[in-house]
Amino acid sequence: MSTQSKAAYRSAAWFGKIDRHGFGHRSWMRIQGFPGDVFDGRPVIGICNTWSELNPCNAHFRDLADHVKRGVWQAGGFPVEFPVTSLGEAIMRPTAMLFRNLASMDVEESIRANPIDGVVLLCGCDKTTPSLVMGAASCDLPALVVSGGPMLNGKYQGRDIGSGTDLWRFSEQVKAGTMGLNQFMEAEACMSRSPGHCMTMGTASTMASMVEALGLSLPENAAIPAADSRRSVLAHLAGRRIVEMVAEDLRMSRILTREAFENAIRVNAALGGSTNAVIHLLAIAGRIGVPLSLDDWDRLGHDCPTLVNLMPSGQYLMEDFYYAGGVPAVVRALGEHGLLRQDALTVNGKTIWENCREAPNWNAEVIRPWERPLVERGGIAVLRGNLAPDGAVIKPSAASPHLMRHAGRAVVFESIEEYKQRIEDPSLDAGEDSVLVLKNCGPKGYPGMAEVGNMGLPPKLLKRGITDVVRISDARMSGTAYGTVVLHVCPEAAIGGPLAHVREGDRIELDVEQRRLHLDVPEEELQRRSAAWRAAPPPMSGGYQRLYFEHVLQADTGADLDFLIGCRGLAVPRESH
Ligand code: FES
Repeated sequence: MSTQSKAAYRSAAWFGKIDRHGFGHRSWMRIQGFPGDVFDGRPVIGICNTWSELNPCNAHFRDLADHVKRGVWQAGGFPVEFPVTSLGEAIMRPTAMLFRNLASMDVEESIRANPIDGVVLLCGCDKTTPSLVMGAASCDLPALVVSGGPMLNGKYQGRDIGSGTDLWRFSEQVKAGTMGLNQFMEAEACMSRSPGHCMTMGTASTMASMVEALGLSLPENAAIPAADSRRSVLAHLAGRRIVEMVAEDLRMSRILTREAFENAIRVNAALGGSTNAVIHLLAIAGRIGVPLSLDDWDRLGHDCPTLVNLMPSGQYLMEDFYYAGGVPAVVRALGEHGLLRQDALTVNGKTIWENCREAPNWNAEVIRPWERPLVERGGIAVLRGNLAPDGAVIKPSAASPHLMRHAGRAVVFESIEEYKQRIEDPSLDAGEDSVLVLKNCGPKGYPGMAEVGNMGLPPKLLKRGITDVVRISDARMSGTAYGTVVLHVCPEAAIGGPLAHVREGDRIELDVEQRRLHLDVPEEELQRRSAAWRAAPPPMSGGYQRLYFEHVLQADTGADLDFLIGCRGLAVPRESH
């Protein structure tokens, strides 16, 4: 194990000099009441905080940061907390995803511009995890993730209800006339009843699990509820450990290896994790320079059973998952069945297998045994065909088995606005065999690739008791959502991909087993439609959204901005004055 001497820490370039610059750097830091000996060459640990009252899932992060600081002080480091852009999934418009790459730039530049030797990333709500990890990966420094933890289980009328998943369910019940508005409003107060992020296996829980599977967090990070004192203990221990990691020069590139990504893909399958993980892991891999493709998701994950019985694929919630054993129990199951790269290193200096090989499973209903999985082949499937030449994804564990092979006539919506206008129209020509197609909701189209792919069904179908039809779009879907929903169609409609050329009544064939997504229209006709297609103008004439529009890549490579891909390192910038 390599070690760094104190003089080698990059913070010494700021605080280690006996000259005008060193005076300036130290003197202004002393405004905050730090004694002079904190500049004695000890490692400076950044605590990258996404606290914001506009991001309620991360609203408890000031407390969490304090626990990290205790650990850093205790281990002989110098903790400095700094804020970065916080992306609140439930609040931001048009979609928090539009700003994931912007936030990652904030993280990367904040780290590089400051005297930071190692960083603890405080992540919670959906996009805060990928944006912080992407930004730090482009610096490649010792980094450790502490997630905020999920909310306690929602409780409504004597039963557990899950963030998002039950909201989708309730809103469909209201449309179907089986739930009153008074009950709907009462449920609102019962769903979110503690600090923390969504407690279903939505995107936040999935991404917290992904960083644990990647080895970027201490074991058990993903599932400890935000309100559980063991979350504070984990933050304290993370503060201690990051100081050691700096001394060992244990950088992200030693953790984020190809093996680590393979483990994360399989853990995602076993969890029934969010389709959003596909895009985020591809983007993170791009930053650290690990080759990873959409097809890796299918090849490594699709045959893997889904073991974890959590909403939206199953029944339980994150609090139950923690008590059952959490991610370590899942990793152990994968390892015992030959589906784990056991030597992948983690932030505590041990391999993932050393961390998890004895992890218990305390509840075989929440974490199903291998012989009795929730879904036999539950990993994300990658579909291709003339409708998605560069790929599309579907999450079988959250889909209806009877629709996994299906052909039907398209009901086409050119935009989400058109969908909203027409979906409740009783004269809409849609039946249970229809395929709902939504266009122009991809990375450029929305812009920002909103989570609108799980379009609600026409009320006239819901009233007949039909709860699922095939839906296809270039959008994403909330990790809390469910249904037979084909997402991330590439290339997207807004750049003239085949999806742009689907017309009302066209026949579409979906065959998940064969990984096929086919538009049954003659090639000559598709070429005619393509020749007549015209791109819409950029959504904004200037500002970040213009930059985003001009540089965002397609979903099959992670929807990063083209100029952000790669690791730019952590060279000390020149002095400012
Ligand atoms: Fe923040 Fe779901 S809205 S995690």
